[in-house]
Amino acid sequence: MGVLPATLKIARVRNPLKSISVRLWYMEAIASLRKAHILLIGMMGAGKTTIGQILADQLKRPYIDSDRQVMQATGKSVAEIFKEEGEAAFRRQERIALQEAVKVFPPAIISVAGGAVLDESNRRILEQAGKVVFLRASLDTLADRLGTGEGRPLLNAGGTENDEEAEREKVKDTLAALLEVRMPLYLEIADVVVDVDGLGEEEVAEKVKRALTEEVEVKLAGRSYKVCIGPGASSYIKDLLPPEAKKVAVVTSENILEKTAIDLDVIDLEKKIIYIEEGEKSKSLSNIEYLCSVFAQFHLSRHDVVLAVGGGVITDLAGFAAASYHRGTPFINVATSLLAQIDAAIGGKTGVNIKEGKNLVGAFWQPVGVICDTEHLFSLPEAEWYSGLGEMVKYGFLGVRNLDSSSLFEQIYNCVQLKAGIVKSDERESELRMLLNYGHTMAHALEAAGFAENEEVGIVPSGRSLRHGEAVAIGIVFAALLAYGMGRIDEKKVERHIELIRHYGLPYLLPEKAEASDLVEFMKRDKKAAGSLTFILDGPNGVEVVKNVSEQTVKETIEYMAVADFLDTFVSKSHNMV
Ligand SMILES: NC(=O)c1ccc[n+]([C@@H]2O[C@H](COP(=O)([O-])OP(=O)(O)OC[C@H]3O[C@@H](n4cnc5c(N)ncnc54)[C@H](O)[C@@H]3O)[C@@H](O)[C@H]2O)c1
Repeated sequence: MGVLPATLKIARVRNPLKSISVRLWYMEAIASLRKAHILLIGMMGAGKTTIGQILADQLKRPYIDSDRQVMQATGKSVAEIFKEEGEAAFRRQERIALQEAVKVFPPAIISVAGGAVLDESNRRILEQAGKVVFLRASLDTLADRLGTGEGRPLLNAGGTENDEEAEREKVKDTLAALLEVRMPLYLEIADVVVDVDGLGEEEVAEKVKRALTEEVEVKLAGRSYKVCIGPGASSYIKDLLPPEAKKVAVVTSENILEKTAIDLDVIDLEKKIIYIEEGEKSKSLSNIEYLCSVFAQFHLSRHDVVLAVGGGVITDLAGFAAASYHRGTPFINVATSLLAQIDAAIGGKTGVNIKEGKNLVGAFWQPVGVICDTEHLFSLPEAEWYSGLGEMVKYGFLGVRNLDSSSLFEQIYNCVQLKAGIVKSDERESELRMLLNYGHTMAHALEAAGFAENEEVGIVPSGRSLRHGEAVAIGIVFAALLAYGMGRIDEKKVERHIELIRHYGLPYLLPEKAEASDLVEFMKRDKKAAGSLTFILDGPNGVEVVKNVSEQTVKETIEYMAVADFLDTFVSKSHNMV
């Protein structure tokens, strides 16, 4: 089979990377989260501290005030440092405080001292650390709020004027001069600008959350809908409700409602909360019957709405119940897992499992809106992160660029945008949408062979079984090797596959006990197979469906991958990553 190196037939060896510690894998994945702070910049008096505290409270994030950090570190007030050591010493402390603040985990709300932007290196730190929000207040507003500049060393150097009015005028002049210098710098690094003049504190906090929420439209004739993505996006559920709805049936799990602390009070409709047990087994026809019975007892009409709050299990289940109840009732997905945010909640594929197979019964039924509140992800268990990241990697080969260098928020936004485009072109999965199954043929074979239930040491951090997204990650490496073996892609492209998967700390080796003949048998039963081995493979035209792949080639690739020597060929350049 052409280009596979000669190691193909060598007996299986031990996984050479078995000793990678769980901690390293975990930290690698956190890299994209390190860019998830919300940083408030702006002049003194713009409200950074108050708004920061409100946001931290609402979004359940740590709160850091960089001025307060300086005071804690030095044991002096800002005014004292200015007076005793001068502005340069203060700026030095300020930079250290900022460097420390952006290291905080989980991602925080950080109120950044007004003058921090003057320093070029501070500006680069801010840009890298997350979303920078410029709270812009006019000179009049600032002058009004700051009065005689009491306690502000840059405005009031000790109060030389006896006349308060003259003192205020002097402060205003100083503010004008400071604004002139700082305004271009604030604008240079701001991701969003929020004007605060004339607004109350709660209103500004709301405006910040709205400004940070991005929308992607899933365009479908007559059934287009919005996906709202961002920190605090769940505040906008009410915007997505059908105007005629009077009741809402919320389908969720107790754990999800508790952990995400989603505020259902923003929905001003009569509510019924229906709890479903967590886990894949809940995607059952008996639960569809249960949900429809509760909907009926609640007198939910076809003009009302079902709200699915959870991961893919809940969105698939509640979506199918909504599709079936009254032959179609509107539903909204509030996706709380990474996998649901980038995939399951978008596109209207709903369904349940039966004992003969996963997702065998279902319907295409589009939601009327989707919420991807990125704050919800912070309570996700580690295994669910990896499961989502495994699914995310596939987007890196379907058109999402720079997946590994962007922030988590951008990654989610870009994946949603790509999925929305695919759904628009191929709502019913005739071909293009099948590409979303990149890596899934091997993943399903591994799951069918029982590896998802086993705690296969060395494949995923010890102590837990392989999650679906992790099986997909292994499947993507397999698909790359298969494409390489068939001469469809070159060595560099295989390297890129492995590099991306390793960037996320995902597994890329077959379980030691995996047998080529067993896996091939399971692959033949794949729903894409239809009589011949069919794969989604990368190639000169990008990722596409490839039919009639020879069984021998597939077996040889599995054996080659199992030897794990392929790492020597494809990983050497990125070895220092682990
Ligand atoms: N419809 C589609 O297009 C599509 C696409 C991909 C996958 N799926 C389906 O999605 C399902 C998998 O979805 P999943 O990975 O989200 O699994 P899941 O729904 O089982 O969620 C995983 C676990 O995380 C918990 N959880 C979810 N959000 C949480 C949060 N914010 N904080 C704490 N815990 C949270 C859940 O309660 C659950 O225990 C599968 O059934 C799969 O078939 C559907």
